[in-house]
Amino acid sequence: MPIPTPHIEAKSPDEIANTVLMPGDPLRAKFIAETYLEDVTQFNRVRGMLGFTGYYKGKRVSVMGSGMGIPSAVIYYHELFAFYEVDTIIRIGTAGAMQANIALRDIVIATASNTDSNLNSGLFGPYTFCPTPDFDLMIEAYERAKELGICVHAGTVCSSDLFYRELDPGVTERLQQYGALAVEMESAGLYMTARKLGKRALAMFTVSDSLVTHEAESAQARQEAYRHMMELGLEIAPA
Ligand code: HPA
Repeated sequence: MPIPTPHIEAKSPDEIANTVLMPGDPLRAKFIAETYLEDVTQFNRVRGMLGFTGYYKGKRVSVMGSGMGIPSAVIYYHELFAFYEVDTIIRIGTAGAMQANIALRDIVIATASNTDSNLNSGLFGPYTFCPTPDFDLMIEAYERAKELGICVHAGTVCSSDLFYRELDPGVTERLQQYGALAVEMESAGLYMTARKLGKRALAMFTVSDSLVTHEAESAQARQEAYRHMMELGLEIAPA
């Protein structure tokens, strides 16, 4: 595929750093660039999916929105990995807690992604493939979060194609019984794409709502909690 790609207008891989931090919301990518990065250049505007490259404490890093859900996000993950020579993508998103001990604003690191998406169905014959992150990056994120005093949980998540999902009675409870920590909508797509292309990936989430308590964070509070994860992502981003 020649670059620019259909969805990213950067004319050269040089415009994008080796590591890209990816929130769903392109305005969050803009916020990160404006708040944390120096010497910022913008490499994408196509479809409003803003992407920036700059320096965090002297380390070159990019940030870009992915949109919501696996089909949107995988377009960007694939193009960045396959055509722009990106090595590592760190998703920084939000998720709904599925366990009582996970509070709003805690951070969840996805050690593996259960998914209702069809993205890997049939690919592995009788096996159900298990999308997982880069192990070193995952350990690094967990240990750094602990050091920073962040309330962090590491475990499996449910990566769903539907935000407004009505599960059959008992299914949510069974997922909870089997240890699923949270529900979100992109990590399985990120982990599959990274594995397919031999790249590194990690997905972590600020808890914005709870399926257990039915609380939800206000937009303002969500933004503040999100900053811990932005900083964690920037700290662990490989150069
Ligand atoms: N479901 C799916 N994705 C989410 C949720 C949720 O409750 N909260 C944040 N992202």
